Amino acid sequence: MFYNGLLLLHSLLRWVILILLLVAIVKSYTGMNAGKPFSAGDKKVALFLMISAHTTLLVGLYLWFFGPWGMANISNLGFGEVMKDRVMRYYAVEHTTGMLIAIVLITIGRGAVKKKMTDAAKYKKMFWFFLIALVIILATVPWPFRAGIGRPWL
Ligand code: HEM
Ligand code: HEM
Repeated sequence: MFYNGLLLLHSLLRWVILILLLVAIVKSYTGMNAGKPFSAGDKKVALFLMISAHTTLLVGLYLWFFGPWGMANISNLGFGEVMKDRVMRYYAVEHTTGMLIAIVLITIGRGAVKKKMTDAAKYKKMFWFFLIALVIILATVPWPFRAGIGRPWL
């Protein structure tokens, strides 16, 4: 019950992250090219993105340590067996590593808010870090159409 609730939260947060990433990418792209001043709205989007990414991370760690697909498979079957099965390997290793990298990129990108740099440089840093994070997330979500590993849209 509790676990399934967290799994649903983890699954729904993907959409919050994807939407905020898209908004932040468009805002930083236009900001960068139109020479706009870095605004309170830009800050807010980056902050909400950070909160949703870190919450997904925290919930993901719980799923990994206490659910059937992470730690449990590795300790029951051994790492070698988990690596041989592509579905088990996906959840134990690939999804986790890819998403960790994406969340680190989001955190570094949003760090531009706090740095002493020109507004154009802030936009540029956010744009690139968020764009790469978006690509990694799109590639690492278990979308329903992905053979074997696919999960629901919500
Ligand atoms: C496993 C759990 C978590 C880890 C490892 C983690 C890690 C971090 C790190 C390393 C930073 C510093 C980034 C920097 O220097 O700019 C940070 C900042 C932040 N985290 Fe997390 N975090 C976690 C969970 C959460 C959760 C659950 C939330 C919100 C619900 C959250 C919200 C934030 C926010 C808002 C900041 C920015 C603070 C600021 O810039 O003043 N984090 N986190
Ligand atoms: C941007 C970050 C992330 C996104 C968008 C994301 C997305 C997803 C989605 C859509 C699912 C399928 C949910 C379902 O079956 O309904 C999932 C499952 C899972 N995620 Fe993530 N995830 C992220 C980060 C993480 C991280 C950092 C970890 C581990 C530390 C993690 C661990 C897991 C695990 C273990 C499952 C499978 C749980 C189970 O089926 O019992 N995720 N994730």
